[in-house]
Amino acid sequence: MATAQDEVMVTRGPHVAHGPDNRYGYRSFEIGGFRFERDEYFAHITCPKGSYVMSVDAFLRALMRDVAWGFFYGWVNFDEVFGTCNHYGSVEMYVGTYNGAYRKAGTDYREYFLSQPLFACFKAMLDDWVNEGYDPFAAPLETGSPYGSKHGSNPGAVNFQREVATRIVGLPGDAPLRTDAGGRRINRAFTDVAQDEPQVHAEPGFEGRLGGFNLFRYLSRSPVTWNPSICAVIRNSAYCPTTEEFILPVEHGNDRVEWFVQLSDEIEWTVKDKATAEPRARVIMKAGDVAAMPADIRHQGYSPRRSMLLVWENMTPGLEKRYASGELPPYPVEF
Ligand code: PHB
Ligand code: FE
Repeated sequence: MATAQDEVMVTRGPHVAHGPDNRYGYRSFEIGGFRFERDEYFAHITCPKGSYVMSVDAFLRALMRDVAWGFFYGWVNFDEVFGTCNHYGSVEMYVGTYNGAYRKAGTDYREYFLSQPLFACFKAMLDDWVNEGYDPFAAPLETGSPYGSKHGSNPGAVNFQREVATRIVGLPGDAPLRTDAGGRRINRAFTDVAQDEPQVHAEPGFEGRLGGFNLFRYLSRSPVTWNPSICAVIRNSAYCPTTEEFILPVEHGNDRVEWFVQLSDEIEWTVKDKATAEPRARVIMKAGDVAAMPADIRHQGYSPRRSMLLVWENMTPGLEKRYASGELPPYPVEF
């Protein structure tokens, strides 16, 4: 598998926006050897080895996650060919580098960028290419169309911030509980989810320090899909619950083992080789199922109706190097 050590080529230049607009009203973006253009239906990517095309809805949904998650852990594959890999400070952007057929044909291409200029380029692209009425975080049935010539923008959607709890949700000083009045209505798929909160009776001296909240109620009011919130952190363990509908917009190639707990309904996962995208497994998770996604695969979830998923991440610094070097096996348990 290719690693960051294979070549070190960091492009420092800021992104260049060519403008004002193409015939559809969109700006184009250039960074390093890459150029991005959009038309009514597609995102076009050009690099020194050739060109690539994606449906613009799939591209924008993936771009939204890559930006919101700050390039995330490891590989954010927009599909089987194009994506980014986070090296924490720098980011690798590629066409075909982690695709066996592209590698074999020699049509793969990648460059390394400092995170900040690539982030600025991606964010500017998102701002310009998302039209009024379209929210890349929303389920397709709950938002407008991404297609067509440029019409307006949607800053409320593209600047959506993932909720990060610093204490326990609902305790003074932390994220408020979601309410109708706060604009967080119960999703149409979760009208049967109980909305009562637990009673907390703190011993004297522990008032304001002991809390509890109804996680199912909280998730039933999530306005976005495939966007984990961090609801509990204990040392390097992060509990990241999320609600899912339609397709995880990225094929995530994790650089560490990641656990999934299916809290409700059902998600089908396709699991592919991280380096080549060859199919490895299909995993059907029903409510109550727990799975560990190994560190040497990429995974993508399909949720036929809105479901609740707990993603459990190990944030131990340097873990990615211990998996990459083979010090740790790619799976958590030896049977
Ligand atoms: C993942 O890549 O593991 C992932 C990302 C976002 C989600 C769920 C899972 O909502
Ligand atoms: Fe993942």
